[in-house]
Amino acid sequence: MTKSAKQLCRRLETLKSGESFELWNTIQGLTMQVFGETVYGVSLNQDNEDERAQKLRTAAQLMFHNAGSVTKGNFWMASFPFLSSPLFAALRKRFFQAQTQNILGYQAVIDAVAMDAINTRKQNPQLRRGDLVDLLLEARISTRDGEVRTVQEAQQQAQQQEAARPVAADGESRNAADYAPGEIRPLFDDEARDQMNTFLLAGTDTTASSLTFSIFLITQHPEVEKKLLEEIDRLTADIKWQDDLASVDDDVRFDELKNFTYTEQVLSETMRLYPPGAAFTRQAKEDIELEGYKIEKGTICFISAFAIHHNAAYWPQPEVFRPERFDPESQEFKDRSKNPYCYMPFGVGPRMCIGNRYAMEEMKLALITIYRRFTFRLTAECIRSLPLKLDCAFTVRPDPRQGIHMTAHARVKDTT
Ligand code: HEM
Repeated sequence: MTKSAKQLCRRLETLKSGESFELWNTIQGLTMQVFGETVYGVSLNQDNEDERAQKLRTAAQLMFHNAGSVTKGNFWMASFPFLSSPLFAALRKRFFQAQTQNILGYQAVIDAVAMDAINTRKQNPQLRRGDLVDLLLEARISTRDGEVRTVQEAQQQAQQQEAARPVAADGESRNAADYAPGEIRPLFDDEARDQMNTFLLAGTDTTASSLTFSIFLITQHPEVEKKLLEEIDRLTADIKWQDDLASVDDDVRFDELKNFTYTEQVLSETMRLYPPGAAFTRQAKEDIELEGYKIEKGTICFISAFAIHHNAAYWPQPEVFRPERFDPESQEFKDRSKNPYCYMPFGVGPRMCIGNRYAMEEMKLALITIYRRFTFRLTAECIRSLPLKLDCAFTVRPDPRQGIHMTAHARVKDTT
């Protein structure tokens, strides 16, 4: 992660004095790169000329873009059921057909890269490195309850089940029908591939959104920037700066990340104001009454984290960016902890985001690495175009038609 953030810094260094860049595109490139390397084993560095990397990068970006339009369509249909009538269905088909075809095309590219990663890893066990591909290939699933277990747990169960067949070495050679209920089996290749794709969709634009908004908000709040830089400088004071990008000697170590408490507060407050997953859904398992509203069993409900995060009943002056709200020592934080459901950027309950820890560590590392080297200022034109407009399709992100244009200012390097 740090290597990718350093490569981004290297690109910022090449900007001419006063030359601006667009923040969302830059940060999305970073999160794609981190993801490609940690999950697919593919370098998605923007400088990488590799055809496969280029295709995956472009396909994923276009997929997000097109999927956003389809998500908006679904939202309108859920809100206004008459839009599902045959007349509107015909219009929709006409309107969305091209987009659906596009999405399927991008999906095919993404699928191919994921399958390639799976096959390469299967054929070359020496390439194993404990990443998501390895974990998926090692995962064992029980056909009875669909629960994924570790190899160890699965083997224990297989031993206990005298009648169970031995664990298949290669999921490809069998299909679901070959397994008895309750029998342990590996994930089939297409299942592992689909999991990888879910992670790609869930894990890149979300982190890009939070990082983009946090850098934007920091430029707007000099007092926050000052406090953040103080923390980063204090906690990295003993780490000698290395110009060599390949060097890991100046990387902040994983076990040191927990000390960057203010950096974490900045990210938490950013996700309060701009939760990347603005809403998520739940289906009512039984009839219930909530605040006087009757919700029938089976109803799919949208839960808006965005609305809850902006509710003055829980958040005094909800529109104000104040990371100190997340200081665990503050009274505000203590009072709020009585109601854990007023903050849910990662969702809640058993289906909450599986990548929340990974996301927080990735975003902290990115902010630390970038702010050790740079500060940022919006261009005059960008300031004139404020307030920021939002695009709330797939994830909450800045409206691409407006963009966040800024200049990067190198901080004085301590080379002593
Ligand atoms: C700032 C970053 C992120 C945010 C704000 C975020 C937010 C969310 C939200 C709101 C959900 C739905 C939760 C629910 O229904 O209760 C979700 C689900 C999910 N997220 Fe994230 N996410 C982030 C990063 C990541 C990353 C980095 C990964 C993967 C490495 C990831 C993987 C997933 C997966 C697989 C699910 C589906 C879980 C399930 O349905 O069981 N997310 N995320």
